[in-house]
Amino acid sequence: MRIQTSRSSSFYLRAKLFCGLFATAFIAACGGGGDSGEEKKIVVGYAQVGADNPWRTALTESVQSEAKARGIDLKFSLGEGKQENQIKAIDNFIVQGVDVILLSPIVETGWDKVLKRAQRAGIPVILLDRTIETEDESYYVTFIGSNFVKEGEMAAEWMVENVKGDKVNIVEMEGTPGSAPANDRKKGFASVIEKHPRFQIVKSQTADFRRDKGKDLMESYLKQVPDIDVVYAHNDEMAVGAISAIEAAGKKPGQDIVLISIDAMSIAFEKMIEGTLNCAVECSPLLGGLAFDAVEKVLAGETLPKKMYMVDEVFDQTNAAAAMPSRKY
Ligand code: AHR
Repeated sequence: MRIQTSRSSSFYLRAKLFCGLFATAFIAACGGGGDSGEEKKIVVGYAQVGADNPWRTALTESVQSEAKARGIDLKFSLGEGKQENQIKAIDNFIVQGVDVILLSPIVETGWDKVLKRAQRAGIPVILLDRTIETEDESYYVTFIGSNFVKEGEMAAEWMVENVKGDKVNIVEMEGTPGSAPANDRKKGFASVIEKHPRFQIVKSQTADFRRDKGKDLMESYLKQVPDIDVVYAHNDEMAVGAISAIEAAGKKPGQDIVLISIDAMSIAFEKMIEGTLNCAVECSPLLGGLAFDAVEKVLAGETLPKKMYMVDEVFDQTNAAAAMPSRKY
């Protein structure tokens, strides 16, 4: 875990102080400001990717319920899977003068200009769930989420350990193109199998983290590749789609073809218990508590680590039933 330099959070504090003084003077000049004695609520803007799958909905619910529990005023925006919508949402949050911005970026690149505008306005940005590539790491205060490279490695390590054979043909289902989880889960998985030449990725294409697209992609893979041994899906939803396609083709998922996915949502546990999914690497969407801890610390002027990773586990058919009752998503 890399630790944030103290420079970035104090920069936000100084800029915020300046903007705050300016705003107070402006309100006083206009005769506003009130004297209600009410404590000012923390206002947070959250730019979420969209509501495209149950994992994302679970993340949204975690953030919304935690904001409510803490009495934080949450301004929420769904980007409907488009970066331009998320950029517009951030600009709106800047105009509204929120205290902190939470951003779950759909893709890794293309954020520098809008994050610079947030920084100039003295609004700290916290990256939630997904990372970005940036020319200036001071554009965000901290990242909170999973280590996607590690998840890809854990998926591959499970496969190396559990799938026998001299030549193992893998088809990969990638997440949203350009997104951190798609890029990093691919990278992590590839870095492990390159040390084990008996494993070969024979096809790799996106199904956008969606169940319907996962089903379509698997139908196409089954037509193109006669001897698929393993499906590596970057999330559960695409694996569930692949399971239906395999069943529709008259094969047994989990036996004729090994399926490995990431997220470990409750649907993955159901599939592991019924025997159609072999392995699910965890990626927790329950980030609301950590997100608002970070919001409160940033506003109190504390320095945060630059990256805060969740500790993810690996589940398979040997431990799924025992783990299921304690799962929260
Ligand atoms: O960023 C996390 C990923 O995004 C989850 O694995 C996936 O289900 C979601 O769309």
